[in-house]
Amino acid sequence: MTGTSSVAPVGSKIAVIGTGYVGLTTGACLAHLGHTVVCADIVEEKVVALNRGEIPILEAGLDDLVREGLRSNQLSFVVGAANAVGGAEFIYLCVPTPQGADGSADLSYIQEAAAEIAPHLMSEAVVINKSTVPVGSTLVVEEALGRSDIAVVSNPEFLREGSAVHDFLNPDRVVIGADDQGAAIRVAGLYLGLAAPLQVTDPASAETIKYASNAFLATKISFVNAIAAVCEAVGADVNDVVLGMGYDKRIGNAFLRPGPGWGGSCFPKDSHALVKIAEDAGYDFGLLKGVIDVNEDQFERVADKVERMAGGSVDNKVVAVWGLTFKARTDDLRDSPSLEIIRRLRERGARVQAYDPSSPSPTDPRLEGIDVVADPYAAVAGAEVLAILTEWDELKWLDFDKVGEAMAAKRVVDGRNLVDRTGLVRRGFAYEGIGRS
Ligand code: UDX
Repeated sequence: MTGTSSVAPVGSKIAVIGTGYVGLTTGACLAHLGHTVVCADIVEEKVVALNRGEIPILEAGLDDLVREGLRSNQLSFVVGAANAVGGAEFIYLCVPTPQGADGSADLSYIQEAAAEIAPHLMSEAVVINKSTVPVGSTLVVEEALGRSDIAVVSNPEFLREGSAVHDFLNPDRVVIGADDQGAAIRVAGLYLGLAAPLQVTDPASAETIKYASNAFLATKISFVNAIAAVCEAVGADVNDVVLGMGYDKRIGNAFLRPGPGWGGSCFPKDSHALVKIAEDAGYDFGLLKGVIDVNEDQFERVADKVERMAGGSVDNKVVAVWGLTFKARTDDLRDSPSLEIIRRLRERGARVQAYDPSSPSPTDPRLEGIDVVADPYAAVAGAEVLAILTEWDELKWLDFDKVGEAMAAKRVVDGRNLVDRTGLVRRGFAYEGIGRS
């Protein structure tokens, strides 16, 4: 592999393939750091809208950053990967790696993108894998490129939806995995404007850091949800337990919020993929399988709570749900714990009325059979139980006297330990949280 070792000057020419959460955030932030960025997508309408500064996702600060980049001509959008890479020194692959039937990550989009750009790349360009890919995928990309003059580098992202721009510009670390040290140094130069530890390692380790990090975060959440179950059984308060645990600096209390289970576009897909990666490599990752099982069980436990709160059955009863997205501050419904729980309640005969501050479209096929309303008070009208399943801050401040009047019975299952338990009990509500009642 060849790669000049000089650090990339600010103002490098960069192409970003794919404009989903990761691609759009990466492109807009790199333009903000002073690079010239061309982003490519296969969907023409999306590219046209993006060039008008219209972004298709709810993501804090991203729309302003995209418009800033368009105004300064640092950022532009084109249709087709081949049209983005001409003259580019660096090419980011930010295409989807969906979960395959066997749990493994599907690499076909990555291979297609690599094959498409290969003939158009200038010599000495560096291809950077930012998609979440199984260990060994840097080799897969090299093969798909078939260019010995092009270095491939792994550069996993750790963005959280809802705070993606902040996370990109204020990373806990930048990880670069490369066999070609010269290429690694050039890629490192792209992040010069960021104050973050820079870790340069080999591709396999970089790819594993990504999966291990997500799997460990999911493990923390499954652990605290399991502890919450113990608290319910022994009469302890999980919020106090987490506080007590967290004083131990080796534990800390980040990512230990009990809830309805974890979901989203990353944790479910990545945890299953890591189990498969380990299995294919001859290791039975029993711990992680347990983490996934606890999460599935948590969906069941919350549905059971609602059923118990409704007097033992939800059959033909109205259940109100506040929160459909997998977490607050995003409009993303992918693998949402809320939808998992609602599915179980509907299987038990419940009629679900739901509200979410992100105003999801009632015609979204994932919301079929759910009566999605645009007002939180309309959602609780005639309901036997209100289940709070996404931790939207605004829900805390709603008028619970008005809620109580609209409901058929004042009963709340707080799947996020979000609202003021004492205040509700004082207003005559029956209240049950996660790991606290
Ligand atoms: C995650 C990782 O955090 C991020 O670093 C990675 O790049 C992509 O995957 P994201 O999918 O946006 O980000 O969600 P995250 O904020 O991590 O939440 C994941 C799930 O865990 C959500 O369903 C959330 O509600 C739940 N969660 C999170 C808890 O139940 N308790 C917590 O304490 C934290």
